[in-house]
Order: sequence, then C-alpha cells, then structure tokens
Amino acid sequence: MGGRHEHESEQGWQTRGGATLAQLFERRMQRREAIALGIWTSAWLAGCGAGARAGQGSTPGRHGSAARGAGAEVPRSRAGRGAASARFPFDFQEIPSGADDRLHVPVGYRADVILADGDPIAKGAKPWDPRRRTAADAALQFGSNADFTAFLPLPPGPDGAARGLLSVNHEHPSTRFLFDDLDDLAGLPWVERQAAIGPRMNAARVALEQAVLGHSVVEVRREAGRWRAQVDSPLNRRIDARTTPITVAGPAAGHRRMQTAADPTGRTVIGTFHNCSGGVTPWGTVLIGEENFDNHFRGDIKGLPNEASLRRAYFENRKSWPWWGEHDPRFDVRQHPNEPNRFGWIVELDPYDPEEPVRKRTALGRFSHEAAGNALTPDGRVVVYMGDDKHGEYLYRFVSTGRVDRRDRRRNRELLDEGELSVACFSDDGTLRWAPLRHGQGPLVAANGFNDQADVVIDARRAADLLGATPLDRPEDVEPQPGTGVVIVALTNNAVRERADAANPRRHNRFGHLLALLPPGAPGKDVDHAAPVFRWELALLAGNPADANVGAEAHPSTTEHGWLASPDNVAYDPAGRLWVATDQGSHWTDTGRCDGLYAVATDGDAAFWSRLFLRAPLGAEVAGPSFTPDGRTLFVSIQHPGVDVQGSTFGKPATRFPDYDPELPPRAAVVAIEREDGGPIGGPGR
Ligand code: FEO
Ligand code: CA
Ligand code: CA
Ligand code: CA
Repeated sequence: MGGRHEHESEQGWQTRGGATLAQLFERRMQRREAIALGIWTSAWLAGCGAGARAGQGSTPGRHGSAARGAGAEVPRSRAGRGAASARFPFDFQEIPSGADDRLHVPVGYRADVILADGDPIAKGAKPWDPRRRTAADAALQFGSNADFTAFLPLPPGPDGAARGLLSVNHEHPSTRFLFDDLDDLAGLPWVERQAAIGPRMNAARVALEQAVLGHSVVEVRREAGRWRAQVDSPLNRRIDARTTPITVAGPAAGHRRMQTAADPTGRTVIGTFHNCSGGVTPWGTVLIGEENFDNHFRGDIKGLPNEASLRRAYFENRKSWPWWGEHDPRFDVRQHPNEPNRFGWIVELDPYDPEEPVRKRTALGRFSHEAAGNALTPDGRVVVYMGDDKHGEYLYRFVSTGRVDRRDRRRNRELLDEGELSVACFSDDGTLRWAPLRHGQGPLVAANGFNDQADVVIDARRAADLLGATPLDRPEDVEPQPGTGVVIVALTNNAVRERADAANPRRHNRFGHLLALLPPGAPGKDVDHAAPVFRWELALLAGNPADANVGAEAHPSTTEHGWLASPDNVAYDPAGRLWVATDQGSHWTDTGRCDGLYAVATDGDAAFWSRLFLRAPLGAEVAGPSFTPDGRTLFVSIQHPGVDVQGSTFGKPATRFPDYDPELPPRAAVVAIEREDGGPIGGPGR
C-alpha cells in the first residue's frame, strides 16, 4: 500500500487492446454505474446468479474464446502477448533451472541462513539436536517448516531497515526428519508407510510434532553487514499447537459448535497449526492462515451428528498425521467431534505486543486458509482476500464494517470481527461477482442448516456451494498490488480437474496459473476492493511453454529457465514489482526442476515475462518472500528441504540444506538474500 508508486502504476498494465490501466479502470467505473442502477443487483444478492459461474454458460475454449456474444470481453491470458522488444523491469542475471541439493541465487547476491528449524530463540534454549529433541526443547527454539515471513520494522514505521521482527509461520512437521528411526519405511507406498509409522509414534513424539508448528516471532538486527537473530530479545515468542491459548473472536465465539469438554465456553482454543501463509494488516498485526487442519485428525466420521459438516471439511480423506489422534484424544473426532470446528481460521497476532491475546477471527470463515493479503478501501475499511487451498475450492473476501484507525492501532482490535464475508463467482464474460455469505439471505437459512452466522462461517464452504461459487484450481496466495490495486491470484495446480472453464482453462492442470482481478476505481486513488463486481483476466498459464501438451503461455522473452510451475506465494517489493514463489510438491518430477522464486513483470509489453531468481534445494518449496522497507533484503523460507523426493531419509536425505553436515538431516530455514554491493533486490528497475 502507499501512494509512492501511483504515478508509475497508472502507466502500467496495458491491455491487449492497448488501453492503459487508467483507461481500463475508467471503463470499469462506467460499469459500476450500471451496477448502481441495479442491473446486477438481484443476481449478486442471491448468490452467483443463474449461469453466472464460469463453465456454466457456453463452453469456453482454452482462453474462453468460443461462442461469445457480440462485444463480450473475453478473459484470456495476458502472457504471450508482449513484444519481443519489451523491457524487463528487473535487472539481475537469471540463474539456471535444474535440480540439485543446493540453494542458488544470482551472481552478485548472497543468501545467509538467519533462522533454521531448531535454532535457539530464547534464553536457556538448547541447541538443535535432531536425534534427541523434545517438545520442551522446541518451546524455546525456532519452529519447523517456515512458510510465511513478515518483516516488521523496529521501531514501527516505513523507514526501519536495520532492526525488526521476523514473524514466521511453521506449517507442518516433516516426520521423517524429526525422528531418526523411520528410514526403513521409506520404500513403502504412502498408505502403507503411514500405517507403519503409527505404531512407532507415542505421546512424546506427537507433542514434539505439535511443538514445532504454529508461529515464531524473533527480533533480527543487521550487524556488521549481516542479519542476525537476537536470541535474548523480550519480543521473541513461540505460538504452538499444544500450549498457546487462543481467543475465539467473531460470530462463532462461544457457539455451541465451538464448545468441547476441555473448553465448555467455546471461547479459548489451545493452539494453531498448519499455518501456511498470511498477511500484515495496515495496523501492523499479522494474520496467519490455518490451512490443511483436517490432515491432523483421525477417526471414522460415520454416524457422528456433524458427519456432513466433517465430510465437507475433507475428514473422509486419508490423513497425513493420523497418529495425533491416537496419542492426543482431542484430535480423535469420535471422541471430540467439535474440535475440528476450532481450526481452519485466520488467526491474528500482534508481534509488537506479546501481552496481546492471539485471536481466531471467525468472521473470515473456516476453510483451508492459505493467506490473507489485504488492502484498504478509499473510505478506510480493510479488505482481506483469502484462498481455500484444496482442489476445486473457492476464493473469498472479507470487508470490515468499521474503518482503520491510523492514529491508535489498538482501536483496530475488533475490526476483523464485524463485516461481510463473500465468495467469488467468475463469469465467462470476464465479470467477477462477490456473493455475500450472510445468514438469512438467499439459501443461507435454517431450512438449509444455517441457524445463525456462526453456522455460516463454520461451514463457509457449504454456504459457498449453495451460492454457486466458482471452484478453482487450488487458490493459494491472493495479493493486491500496491498502487494499481490489481489483485493477483495464484492457482497452484489441479491435476484432478476434469472439465475446463474460463477461470480454470486447462483440464488436469498440473502447473497452475495466475489470475488478475481488476476492482473498479482509479489506481492509487480509489480502487474499490469492496465493490460487488470486479473484472478478471487470465494472467499467466504456467508450465513449460515449449511443450505443446502443457498448454502454457509465457511471454516470448521468457527463457527456458524462466517459466514457472505451481505458483504459491505472491509478493511485491517496495517498488511494487511482482515476485512469485513456487511449490510443486511431488509434481516437481514433471518439470525436473526444483522450486524457485521468480521475478515477474506485470506492465505493458513485458507483462508476465518471468525470470528465475532463486532456486531451492531438492524436495523443498520456496515460501513467504518478504522485503525490508528499503528493498535491500529479501527474506524467504526454504520449506521442507529433502521431503518431496522418493527415498529421501533421515540417514540419506536428498539434501542436507542448510548445514551440509554428513551427520545431520536437512531442516527448513529462513534466509536473507542481499546484494553484495548493498543495492536493491532485483536491481533498480525502471
Ligand atoms: Fe500450504 Fe497452500 O500451501
Ligand atoms: Ca507448504
Ligand atoms: Ca502456500
Ligand atoms: Ca502450496
């Protein structure tokens, strides 16, 4: 956010018709007037409206190009349309794609490991010992599998660049590297391996898996030209899955479906876990997503009173950590059927104030939350965009009722408890409508099992089903670009998609794509992120553009190294330029290249030209890119190194990042990327 890039932004985002973004916004403003006249009103108030969903109208071609009505604006990929003479807005030497056990950055750059899994972050903490680590040790150490990172300057403010807080998510446990006696199971197929791991687990091991998850806040300082964690800072803290009391706030607080034997009030949940990505609010708190929480429960749901709700929350699927429920009964749904309702939320914490309670913001809905990119409306309300990262799930938006108080940040404490949650309905004609998830409206009534707004937010997916929301190819990060307000949506992949539609134009989409959402309003001034109707376009179809079977579209100047696959996190540097991190998971064997961080142009003729900046070691994803306010340090998480590789074990891992000690397994880490000459990351740009 911020006005400093307004001018340059207005020149950017040229459309295929040659219109500047400013002209495009002007056109959309005219459309908004049409909306005000009520043309859309009945349709969007009740939901997506008949035939409004992508794929429900005429069957689109790959770019939604078939059978259009006269004058319809057809959403299509903006990549591949640029001129070969376009100018790339970054300046660095692209690194080669490929796969090996090392982390790679461009010539002239340096990557320093700042915080790795198990590093002490409190007085009295033991050093990391992967063979003898306990939950008590982990309570004083940096957690596992770092994902989202945010750099929060100390003192707070836009100029801080040498001291700050790193606020970092810890997504899931890498069981094979937490315990050194599972190597003999590595050759088993997944289902058998999971079954064989179970008997080797016990309560202490489950406690360790719970202790390494959640979130860490760690003070970092730049000393003698390098970033260092401050082990003794009073601001350092761990939030984990087993000890941290978290206050339930918003419409589900205290609701009977949130009550359990351990918490009859339904107002205090112990812990948060599977924290994937997140966002920083305009008032300097951090929002973190509870993503695939279902993976940590066990138990047959058949016959439970909430069977249907649990089924919609994927509780019938095979689970990755079923042993949690064997050794910690609250994760056994047959014993505690309401416990699952207490996860799958956006959690807000204040890194600057360890005394401030951590809160689950239930007004923002319950699903597999990836992240919480946000922006302000012209009148100061906060808008949070949220993807639900499962195959064929939806994109959501929350708009606060109240306005942000910029003078007293504490007065924003309840801002996320009241507002409107809505879900995205993509139309083939390039319109995007936001259908409100409002109790009592349309199908969200008692006859359909929604007795109050708590039911709506707890079963947000089912509410969205009834509204006719558009299933997407695993929505990950959703981030408004500062200045332009264009919202980039990363759809990571969806190999199980059987039917293509306009917003998901490829069947068996193994490589993912990016969408660009265009809210109405003038860029940098009054982009209206709360508007009921946006426009949308396909931005990039990922994968290898040289392989005709892939159906990818890349800018003609993108090199053989620069195309990306399975976009996950999206970030902007202080110059407003786009960076995209990838997470192919086990799909990496389809590309033969490790995950990376890509610099991506968004403007004019260069739009969606991408270039490989950083490459992770084998089996890792790249996550959580964030920048210092001066743009001279990039923090990024190298998550689960060595995991997504067949036969990679504690004793013989595919990589030993970051220690490269022959006795040690790999571990996730946050690295600080800097230029040797101290210049801005990605070059000076324009
Ligand atoms: Fe945890 Fe959606 O990536
Ligand atoms: Ca991950
Ligand atoms: Ca992610
Ligand atoms: Ca992912």
